[in-house]
Order: sequence, then structure tokens, then C-alpha cells
Amino acid sequence: MKPTVAPFPVARLRRTRKSESLRALVQENVLTVSDLIWPVFVRDGENIEEPIASMPGVFRYSVDRVVEAAKEAHALGIPVICLFPYTDPALKTEDCAEAWNPNNLSNTATRAIKAAVPEISVMTDVALDPYNINGHDGLVENGEIVNDPSVQALTKMALSQADAGADIIGPSDMMDGRIGTIREALEAAGHQNVTLMSYSAKYASAFYGPFRDAVGASGALKGDKKTYQMNPANSDEALRLIERDLQEGADMVMVKPGMPYLDICRRVKDGFGVPTFAYQVSGEYAMIQAAAQNGWIDGEKAMFESLMAFKRAGCNGILTYFAPAVARKLAGQ
Ligand code: PBG
Repeated sequence: MKPTVAPFPVARLRRTRKSESLRALVQENVLTVSDLIWPVFVRDGENIEEPIASMPGVFRYSVDRVVEAAKEAHALGIPVICLFPYTDPALKTEDCAEAWNPNNLSNTATRAIKAAVPEISVMTDVALDPYNINGHDGLVENGEIVNDPSVQALTKMALSQADAGADIIGPSDMMDGRIGTIREALEAAGHQNVTLMSYSAKYASAFYGPFRDAVGASGALKGDKKTYQMNPANSDEALRLIERDLQEGADMVMVKPGMPYLDICRRVKDGFGVPTFAYQVSGEYAMIQAAAQNGWIDGEKAMFESLMAFKRAGCNGILTYFAPAVARKLAGQ
């Protein structure tokens, strides 16, 4: 649809920008608390809130503290909390068996949150990197990230998360065929109502740096992730991945990172009309926080503007480390 504009001075587009009330009246997009998914980092121990240097304002919580965080998130109206474990390096192996241990950190945290705050949805991450001695999202054999054995491992991981009570499972590994295999396994195990939010269009990005510090994977990672994550130069390929994952049983899809890939969000929403999400990743968060801490930008305004961009691009929601700060602000706190 092409917007109609009468010639000047019949049309003066500044008329509807004249006052706060007129600007509010013609505002096209709104950011609300129900748009937010809050990614949190979980570690072992008790009563711990450990700051992450490269992500000011973000912490690694022990399980008891992540339960408190989930309670606060629910009270603020945040619908989903997404768990990322910081795994003890001693538990990282080549076969990544800790990933499907029913009592690993992620599963323990899921059970604890669902017991204390059943109303909040828990999202979990399916990828082997927190458990892999190589830091990769799939299994490594002779230097190669092997697809099909990785899918088998990832499926065991997804099943253990569903058994622990996860509401949304987010495969972030970018192996081929994992959505179909996971969906089939979930159906067979009686988990037909567990939803899959596929990280369908996930790019091999420089913006994940602080996250890899947060989950302790930076030191472990050998090489890069370019044989499975997407080339930042590609756009049509993202649509093929989205279509493939939808056919295999994804309920929702994600584009990641966020701000540098808003064109992809828009193409996905227009092309498929499915629940579309973006992940405002650690590097995007760190850039805004670092500039704000230096007094170079207004952090709060930049936070809201950066999130509104996703609504404008057609996203139904955003994974963002800003979630609690935004929710508090929206609630007038
Ligand atoms: C790992 C995973 C990554 C992120 C989410 N899941 C990092 C990676 O692929 O290396 C990044 C999130 C962020 O940067 O905030 N499967």
C-alpha cells in the first residue's frame, strides 16, 4: 500500500506532530510488557548474583535467585523467561552428555521456576555449546561439526527440557533437520503442547561476544560457527530456513541478532505471517549500555527506541536483556 500525500500546503505532515496528544493519537506501533522475553543466566551455588563485566546490569543467578527473578518478572507482567546455563568447565565433554542430564542446571532451574511461578512461561535453549569442550553448538568429529549425530544429541536435550517442564523450546544450534526430529520426539513422548521457537535465521555474528563470556563458552570455542550459522550477507536464504522450519513443526520463528537484521524480520513477517521474534543480542545490549555509561547517549531513550524498531519491523516480541528495566519503566516504576 502506498501512503497518499496531498500536495503542500493541503498536506502538512507536521500537523499531526504538533502536540503530545496528537502524536500519541497517530502512533502506529506500541511496545508493551507482553512483547518481552527475558534471557537470564543461571549458575550453580546459592544466593549468588554475579555481575557479568561485558553486560552491565546483567547477572548470573544461582537457582534460588533465578526463582526470585522469575517472581519479579511475573509480577511485572513479563510473559516469558529464557534460561541460559553457565556450566562448570569440569562438566564440559566431547559427547556433551550434561546437556540431557535431567538434573543439569537448566532443568533444575526450570523445575524450580515452574514450581514457584507456574504462570510464567519458561523457554530453554537447545544447543550444545554450554556443555561442549569445543564450544560448538554441535558435536565435533575430526574438526567437523557433524550434523546428524548432533541432531540426535539435541533431540535428547530437548526432551529432557520438556520433561523438566519447559513451555517453549528454542533450538539455537542451526543444524539441518533438528526441528522435525525434535517435534516428532516431543509428540511421541506426550509433549504435544510444548512449543518450538526456532532460531531459524541465526547469523554467524560478531555481536554474540558478551554472551559467550556470560555462559563461559568464549575460551572453549575453537574456530568459528560459519558452517552452521548464516552468512551476514544473505537474505533469501533466511526465508528458506524459516519456511523449512515451519514445515518441520516450528510454532514461532526467530531472527538473530536483531537490530542489524531488521530487514529480515520484515521479510519474514510479510512473507509468512507467523509469530516472529527477534533477539536483541548481548553485543547490541553492551553497545547501548557502554555508550550510556560514558554519557554519549541517553541509555533509557536508546533502549526504548531500539526495541520499538522491532515492533516497526513486524516482530511479535523481542528477547532482550532490557526486559525488566523496560517493564519497570512501563509500569511507571
Ligand atoms: C548458543 C547461543 C548464542 C546466543 C544464544 N544462544 C551464542 C552463539 O551462537 O555463539 C547468543 C545470545 C546473545 O549474544 O545474547 N547457541
